[in-house]
Amino acid sequence: MGTTPAVETAPGTERDRGRCQTGIAGLDDILGGGIPKGNLVLIAGTVGTGKTTLTLEYLVRGAERGDRSIFLSMTESTAKLVQNLSSFEFFRPDLLQNGSLVLVDVPAIYEKLGLDREEMSAEEVDLLLRTIRDLVAELGAKRLVLDSVTGVSYRIRKEERIRDFILRLGQAMSQLDCTTLLVSEIGPTPGRYSLSGVEEAIVDGVILLGNTRRQGDLLRVIQVIKMRGTPHSRAQYVIELTPIGLLMAPHLKGGGHEST
Ligand SMILES: Nc1ncnc2c1ncn2[C@@H]1O[C@H](COP(=O)(O)OP(=O)(O)OP(=O)(O)O)[C@@H](O)[C@H]1O
Ligand SMILES: [Mg+2]
Repeated sequence: MGTTPAVETAPGTERDRGRCQTGIAGLDDILGGGIPKGNLVLIAGTVGTGKTTLTLEYLVRGAERGDRSIFLSMTESTAKLVQNLSSFEFFRPDLLQNGSLVLVDVPAIYEKLGLDREEMSAEEVDLLLRTIRDLVAELGAKRLVLDSVTGVSYRIRKEERIRDFILRLGQAMSQLDCTTLLVSEIGPTPGRYSLSGVEEAIVDGVILLGNTRRQGDLLRVIQVIKMRGTPHSRAQYVIELTPIGLLMAPHLKGGGHEST
C-alpha cells in the first residue's frame, strides 16, 4: 500500500475514491469538495422544492466535465423535461446530442420489461435492478439520477423488498463508480426523508430540500442531513433556482423560521 489517503475514510470503507463534484458551487463547499464517489444519495423534498432542477443540473455539470450521465424519469416525460430544461441557461442541448447526457423514460422500460402489475414481485424487482445496472455499465455512466425512487418504492410496497432494492442498487452503482441521486418525494412531516422511512437508513447520504417562511415570503432551503465518507455542515442554506442554475445564498442565522 504505502500511500496515505488525502481524506480520512469512514471506518469500514475500503478507500477514498475521491469526490464527485456536483458543480453546484455552494453544495460542493458544504461537502468539502463534492459527494464521495460511488455514494447513493437521497434528494428528499416536498413538492416544488427543486428536486428535479437540482438533479438535472448535477447531471449537466457532470456531462460537461466528461462524466456520462443518465436521468431515469418516472413522472415527467423526457420530451417535457427537455422543454423545461431549455428554459435554463445552464442546459446544453449538445450534451444530449453527443450522448453524454441520456434521458430515459422509466414507464417505457416498465413496458418493455412487461412490468405492468400494480405490485412488483421479487423477480420483477430483480429484473429492474439488472436493467438499470446493465444500462449504467453499458454506457459507462458515472452519474445517475432516479426521479423518483418514491414511484419505484410505491410499486415494490413491502418494506423488506424496498430495503433490498436500495441496498442492491447502492452496491451495484458503487461497484460501477457511479454516484447516484435518488429523488424522494415527501410530505411536510419533519424528520421524514421518504414515504416508507426505509430509504434514508440505507443510503449513504441525505440532502433535504424544503421551504422556509420569512417575512411572508416562501424561501427554498437546502440542508445536508448525512453524507457518509465526509465531514459536512448540517446548517440550512437558502437556495434560489435561477436561469443559470441553483444558487446558494448566505447562511440563515437565528430563529424565527418555520421550515417544512
Ligand atoms: N427557468 C427557470 N428559472 C428559474 N426557476 C425556474 C425555472 N423553471 C422552473 N423554475 C422553478 O422551479 C420550480 C420547480 O422546480 P422542480 O420541478 O425542480 O421541483 P420538484 O421538487 O422537482 O417538484 P415536484 O415535486 O413537482 O417534482 C418551479 O416551481 C419554478 O419556481
Ligand atoms: Mg420533480
